[in-house]
Amino acid sequence: MGNPLTAGLAQNLIPQPCTLVIFGGAGDLSARKLLPALYNLSLDGVLPTNFAVVGFARNELDDSTFRAFARDGIERFSRRPLDEAHWADYSRSLFYVTGSFTDAQAYVELKRRLEKIDSEFGIPGNRVFYLSIPPSLIATCVEQLKANGFVADPGEGPISRVIVEKPIGRDLATARAINATLARTFDESQTFRIDHYLGKETVQNILVLRFANSVLEPLWNAKYVDHVQLTVAEEEGVGLRAGYYEEAGALRDMVQNHILQVLAMIAMEPPWSLDPENVRDAKLNVLRCLRPLTAGDIDKQVVRAQYGPGYHHGEEVPGYRREEGVRRDSTTETYVALKVFIDNWRWAGVPFYIRTGKRMPKRVSEAAIYFKPVPEILFNTNRDAPLEPNVLTLRIQPDEGFSLRLSSKLPGPKVRIYPVKMDFHYGATFGDSSPEAYERLLLDVMAGDATLFMRRDAVEAAWAWMMGVLDAWESSRTRYLPEYPTGDWGPVEADRLIEADGRKWRTL
Ligand SMILES: NC(=O)c1ccc[n+]([C@@H]2O[C@H](COP(=O)([O-])OP(=O)(O)OC[C@H]3O[C@@H](n4cnc5c(N)ncnc54)[C@H](OP(=O)(O)O)[C@@H]3O)[C@@H](O)[C@H]2O)c1
Repeated sequence: MGNPLTAGLAQNLIPQPCTLVIFGGAGDLSARKLLPALYNLSLDGVLPTNFAVVGFARNELDDSTFRAFARDGIERFSRRPLDEAHWADYSRSLFYVTGSFTDAQAYVELKRRLEKIDSEFGIPGNRVFYLSIPPSLIATCVEQLKANGFVADPGEGPISRVIVEKPIGRDLATARAINATLARTFDESQTFRIDHYLGKETVQNILVLRFANSVLEPLWNAKYVDHVQLTVAEEEGVGLRAGYYEEAGALRDMVQNHILQVLAMIAMEPPWSLDPENVRDAKLNVLRCLRPLTAGDIDKQVVRAQYGPGYHHGEEVPGYRREEGVRRDSTTETYVALKVFIDNWRWAGVPFYIRTGKRMPKRVSEAAIYFKPVPEILFNTNRDAPLEPNVLTLRIQPDEGFSLRLSSKLPGPKVRIYPVKMDFHYGATFGDSSPEAYERLLLDVMAGDATLFMRRDAVEAAWAWMMGVLDAWESSRTRYLPEYPTGDWGPVEADRLIEADGRKWRTL
């Protein structure tokens, strides 16, 4: 029997024969994620039979050095080890074109190579362009693609699709500008904005858990849910990405995309079908219902902070402002906590608490649904020691799975109540490691299934909501952010944010 985890939600779509052109093919994302993901898809035998990959970037490589680059990435980052016999065959489908994205002549050469590959591999001119490049280059690349005749209208001739990486802009205006640029060349149906969180098994499983189980949906509302906690914690500091991170910060890096997407999947209404547009409409409606955060709310509902110095795995590490590439007077947040409301009938009055940060005690992403306490009758009568509420925890990473906390009687003559957990672990149940998010997402693009990709209106709705916070921060002219020690769960201000409501952050 095959691994059931490789079965997806949209099972009818088949990846079409195509060439995947990776703009920035010699870059970090390509080595760490894209090339290993493609190799694993090839090991699984799910790539189209007529398929090739072309790396395109200014780095001086040729086909053979690009294959060595890919092999190195696979050896270091692939989910499964490199199999020599398979590699010998698969590597023949990898090619490389050197050129600058700004140089029109490079596109002439790219086209010549693609046409040659089409005829060698029996590919009917179908192309997927993966823009694994800095956002500032998106406009140049898509305009050159259009000018050099790479892009066919949808439904006319061969397939042309484009994949864009986050970040889509750094505020609403820049996101709109990128989307407008893309729309001048590609139809929305040809545009795949990737958020790799949506490719994770556990995130996809939110829909299955909610809509394939009759016990949960009746409880999934303000009547029974007390609050929701979303946590995305990283152990690492800013590392070598200070240049990017200084311009981004935790709110833009994590909340605008991954966390709001997960929140939308938890809070959305049941779509009437799994058609991509229906699923994405349902998620968009959640984003549109986010209660705006005005300047007056920010102090009560948002906390930002930076990590201070400390020890990480026994090694002394600097605080954020002492990291290489970070301005000494930086006010970029490495931690943010928010209290958010969704103003619709289902969620009226239910707070969603969000926290994300770097240099936290461990790497963990999860969503926890806290159900309301039982009445203070029968078993919940001691106000000084209330019963632990039921909590459904969806573990996104690591240790993917979910668990439900229930109250149970401790064995013995007295009635003593103890919280117990019903626990599901992907690894233990399905045996195999679940596919990497990029595997699923790349396959979906080849199949033309946009369910797990962010639509233009959703990206802009998320930014529109976040502008309330960004504008308030901008005008506050804060010079110093609170610090939390490396290896801590965040600043004391974040504890106060949730404790003011009589609740506590989960202990993870
Ligand atoms: N790396 C990650 O884990 C990660 C995660 C999430 C999202 N992303 C996003 O993915 C995208 C790519 O990130 P990355 O980390 O892979 O970046 P990267 O390592 O800098 O790779 C970009 C590649 O494009 C090449 N390039 C840059 N400007 C060029 C030009 N004008 N003409 C031709 N080639 C050019 C670079 O060449 P040089 O080496 O000569 O500069 C490099 O090969 C970014 O949008 C990033 O935000 C990355």
